[in-house]
Amino acid sequence: MVYVTRRVNFSAAHRLFNPTFSEEKNEAIFDKCNNFFGHGHNYIVDVTVKGVPDPETGYVIDLKKLKALLEEHILSKVDHKHLNFDVEFFEGIIPTAENIAVTFWKEIEHKIPQGTLHKITVFESDNNYVEYYGEPIEIPKHDVRYSIDKEPFLNS
Ligand code: NI
Repeated sequence: MVYVTRRVNFSAAHRLFNPTFSEEKNEAIFDKCNNFFGHGHNYIVDVTVKGVPDPETGYVIDLKKLKALLEEHILSKVDHKHLNFDVEFFEGIIPTAENIAVTFWKEIEHKIPQGTLHKITVFESDNNYVEYYGEPIEIPKHDVRYSIDKEPFLNS
């Protein structure tokens, strides 16, 4: 087996909270990512496909095709969006890096034209990243939309 990886980037906003927690508990658990008005990250996503190189091309998968697939099914939907509100496949999902990796997997697993999806890595910052290998996981749904009904400029 040979493992081939394509790296892509996107920028998006989110706010991490669980609507069943108190404000204090959300702040304690999600910290900076709980900021009421949301905030952004520059995400890096590595998508790894495994397979045997094609005898005629030497490719496990044509990386141009993988790039185009990621653009169509993921990046065009999440780049410069708010993950709590804008993206259909994140509806009801607390948009942690973990849940982003699992959700992306579900979106592209069956669309890979050659080889098989092996790993999705999501970097939320230089130092924090998660890896997912596709073991079945059900993500519980919560209403992660919120209304901007708080007075601004009170957090500083
Ligand atoms: Ni965050």
